[in-house]
Amino acid sequence: MKVLSVVGARPQLVKLAPIAAAMGRTRHTHRILHTGQHYDADLSEVFFTGLGIPSPDVHLGIGSGSHGAQTGAMLSALDPVLDAERPDWVLVYGDTNSTIAATLAAVKLHVPVAHLEAGLRSFNRRMPEEHNRVLTDHAADLLLAPTATAMQHLAEENLAGRSVLVGDVMVDVCLRVRDQVAGSSILLDALPHTLDRTAPYVVATLHRPDNTDDPERLDAIVAALAALPVQVALLAHPRLVARAEAHRLDLRRGALHVGRPLAYAEMVAAVLGSLGVVTDSGGLQKEAFVLGRACTTVRPETEWVETLTGEWNVLTPDPHRLADGEFARIVTRGAPAVDRGTPYGDGAAADRVVDVLEEWC
Ligand code: UD1
Repeated sequence: MKVLSVVGARPQLVKLAPIAAAMGRTRHTHRILHTGQHYDADLSEVFFTGLGIPSPDVHLGIGSGSHGAQTGAMLSALDPVLDAERPDWVLVYGDTNSTIAATLAAVKLHVPVAHLEAGLRSFNRRMPEEHNRVLTDHAADLLLAPTATAMQHLAEENLAGRSVLVGDVMVDVCLRVRDQVAGSSILLDALPHTLDRTAPYVVATLHRPDNTDDPERLDAIVAALAALPVQVALLAHPRLVARAEAHRLDLRRGALHVGRPLAYAEMVAAVLGSLGVVTDSGGLQKEAFVLGRACTTVRPETEWVETLTGEWNVLTPDPHRLADGEFARIVTRGAPAVDRGTPYGDGAAADRVVDVLEEWC
């Protein structure tokens, strides 16, 4: 069996790591195609080196652009590669523009597509990721779902016949790296250098267009973070930096300590060392949950509804509109005592993915 993994953005590299390792334990052929959607070393290269992923076999070098321009450029660049490779499966990951482009290119050429992390829904049609994941699920031949909730969404959309529950591969990598970094303080050097590592801090990330692209909204969210009574390590995604510069907003204020995005092991260490996480990222919500840290999510909804159990994750879509002190109370609440269970699986999802690809090949 020959599998071609198509990736392009940071969260996909995290999911690729356990798949590449699981494929490497078999006699099957695994090829990796990078679209180039993320090109900064902090968002791409450090994940290949840090997580031991083999270098991509093909790199399309597409880069940034509007949704149409970026997705279109990927589509036309993918055609000749798929023709030449003719894999048994194109494996697509998550919900980015790289996911939908590879799916569309492959189905048109009658190359079977498997979608990893199928069935996630925010039911928020303002999100580019929601368009990408719904369209990908309906076009793909095999839907690999991470949770029972995802399986239910797929069944409600009449897709049960091609859906399989495999668990969440991000748990595989998160647990492995947690065990590797346990007790390592060196990794905390990557946190913003102004941060006092001996005092409590929260980890914050912000990159969703709905939070970054409107200047007034971004300013209000940043002000709410800056007013927190605890240090905030703001690990700034390039989109946040670009939008803040364009809107002439200063990210360096109040409680905020601005740093670069972290490599995976650094991020796991940073979360483990923190009081909690404030984010609009899907992956980080789940990582906080798996690592046992309280998460506060700056969004009106989450795809990872299991994280809401016992207030392990709390949604604060408009932190600046909360009553005085309420945002601070939520962010600093600490890890709840409620048992969170293991809704994302046991850390062996990637081997299951390979087994299912083989069975359905
Ligand atoms: C993309 C995904 C999102 C995912 C996120 C993780 C889509 C629609 N969105 O969002 O689901 O959560 O990746 O990070 O696919 N930029 C750089 N360097 C880079 C990449 C981007 O500076 O290496 C800047 C550019 O200004 C670019 C902006 O970030 O215009 C947005 O990048 P893009 O890849 O379009 O989307 P993300 O916001 O990263």
